[in-house]
Amino acid sequence: MRRAVCPGSFDPVTNGHVDIVTRAARLFDEVVVAIGINPAKQGLFTPDERAELIRLACPGPSVRVVTFSGLLVDLCRREAAVAVIKGVRGETDVAHELPMAQMNASLSAGGVETVWLPTDPRWGFVSSSLVREIAALGGDVSGYLPAEVALRTVARVAERSGSTPGGQPGITDRGTP
Ligand code: PNS
Repeated sequence: MRRAVCPGSFDPVTNGHVDIVTRAARLFDEVVVAIGINPAKQGLFTPDERAELIRLACPGPSVRVVTFSGLLVDLCRREAAVAVIKGVRGETDVAHELPMAQMNASLSAGGVETVWLPTDPRWGFVSSSLVREIAALGGDVSGYLPAEVALRTVARVAERSGSTPGGQPGITDRGTP
């Protein structure tokens, strides 16, 4: 069984992530999508919610979703994974990812290879952070997210801003200064 770990924040999972996980699942027997937990950062979705959305977006027997904290190489060891999968959108991603790939190779004494998959050009400009920003500003994110993820993202942003998804003011919009 050749297993790969595909780590990230996935807040939320985008069409670009889904494409990378799907392609990785053709290369490995099992892909473990690993949601890194950062307790210092309040995300749009909780780690468990992100996991649920990834399961919805990436169904299939060869994809499993876990959360983790600590070192990625320790997770790879626990999961007996031989590779870390990363999607790269361009030079900026390469510059960011190269030292991490080299560090992970060093920390694992060569036990974990990093495999970069070039992002499909359709999703080359898509990131979770941009999607969150666009949703927060009332833009249409449905072209960049799986359908259910888009619905939940719009609903969560509306909850956070105190309005309902249709643009109707919510209770928290009224009254209090
Ligand atoms: O860019 P992202 O999606 O926010 O990345 C999240 C994640 C989980 C991939 C990142 O935080 C990570 O790699 N965490 C593991 C920390 C680690 O092992 N660091 C040392 C080696 S580089």
